[in-house]
Amino acid sequence: MVDVLLGLQWGDEGKGKIVDYFAPSYDVIARFQGGPNAGHTLYVKDKKIVLHQIPSGIFHDNTINLIGNGVVLDPVTLKRECETVASFGVDYAKNLYISERTNLILPTHRALDKASEVLKGNDKIGSTLKGIGPAYMDKTGRNALRVGDILDKNFTTQYIRLRLKHQKLLDSMQFHEDISAWEDEFFEGIEFMRQFKIINGEYFINERISEGKKVLAEGAQGSMLDVDFGTFPFVTSSNTISAGVCTGLGVPPQKIKEVIGVTKAYCTRVGSGPFPTELHDSVGEELRKTGNEFGATTGRPRRCGWIDLVALKFACMINGVTQLVMTKADVLDAFTELKVCEAYEIDGKARQQVPYQMTKLAINPVYASFKGWDTNITQLSSFDSVPEAMKDYISHINGYLGAEIKYISNGPGRDQIIPVL
Ligand code: GDP
Ligand code: IMO
Ligand code: MG
Repeated sequence: MVDVLLGLQWGDEGKGKIVDYFAPSYDVIARFQGGPNAGHTLYVKDKKIVLHQIPSGIFHDNTINLIGNGVVLDPVTLKRECETVASFGVDYAKNLYISERTNLILPTHRALDKASEVLKGNDKIGSTLKGIGPAYMDKTGRNALRVGDILDKNFTTQYIRLRLKHQKLLDSMQFHEDISAWEDEFFEGIEFMRQFKIINGEYFINERISEGKKVLAEGAQGSMLDVDFGTFPFVTSSNTISAGVCTGLGVPPQKIKEVIGVTKAYCTRVGSGPFPTELHDSVGEELRKTGNEFGATTGRPRRCGWIDLVALKFACMINGVTQLVMTKADVLDAFTELKVCEAYEIDGKARQQVPYQMTKLAINPVYASFKGWDTNITQLSSFDSVPEAMKDYISHINGYLGAEIKYISNGPGRDQIIPVL
């Protein structure tokens, strides 16, 4: 069977840490979408590492890590990341497999990403500029180069042909950038990739499932950044929700069992786009400071606000969430009052549904207030010892969402997690 772990907000929910925690119970960890726009932070032997392309099970000796067909892969980032992982003593080539159908990110995709943002001016998405949108456009436009193609003797010719096409586009956008250094790195990355097991991912996964092995699909980004259901156009270019697992790995829907949704105890967003519960005051600043809310991929300050139950319930619905993990609960330790958004007031009416176009509407969040627990919870390991005020906060959220928080993360460390028994 396949379990799925994914983010329910606008990304950076702490997925990497939670996958690393669950990894010993799984035989395979697989990324099914996204690319190096992801930044998943793990603490290994108390040292921080941020993974962009490699699944977060790589530090576990007996776990195979698969980069699935739904991912867009930048060979430059992959090489760099493998070198970092090796400095932790990991034999990455042993446990890292790549699907031959995975689409490649070319240096010109990165240039096109930049050019597109420049053209958008004030309406820019706030992309990570890793070439994600243009790479997925080449996939759906049926032009892309895929990992399996690097084994073809005509790969360079195919590359030049696509690059030429991109160059024409860049010229028409009047965007000029010297990409020759990127190109050298790209081909070094391609050579580096030859050492990996480049496999047919869909047969691999389905054979493991038939053998009774356990697979965990690791989401990147978050449900509100999904290209169909997120705050379009301020989204990423892939399906980040559980349905993406089927197309991103070749897994039939009946094989999906648990859908583990990860949410912060509050809410953040990096990049542009609607964020109804965003706080522009000292409370927002306090969340950013205490939560150390700076992007793991770009270093940009994250926008912060209270937890948004309207958006969370929507995310639970479209994903079929069966259990929840709440991260960064410790960030709320010193707050005397907590708020949760339970409705959006639009044109004087309270609504509990996510509207079609958040961007163009004035949304007033309707809050319920809670007493803070005002206790340091970072050393707790059992739910019994959790403060009553926190139990109230959690049980209220469970009630609203109709799903249960099964784990509470109370610090960035590997062992800072409280099972809710
Ligand atoms: P991801 O993209 O969903 O994997 O999340 P990121 O790694 O981008 O961002 C999560 C940040 O919060 C990282 O810096 C983590 O080290 C940190 N983190 C994860 N869980 C917790 C937690 O429970 N408490 C605190 N204080 N930090 C956490
Ligand atoms: P993880 O996996 C948070 C955001 C960008 C931008 C929008 C589109 O670490 O949760 P893109 O580069 O995809 O064209 O950017 O999506 N974004 C993320 N925000 N966490 C991420 O990944 C993100 N990946 C993309 O900031 O607003
Ligand atoms: Mg992240």
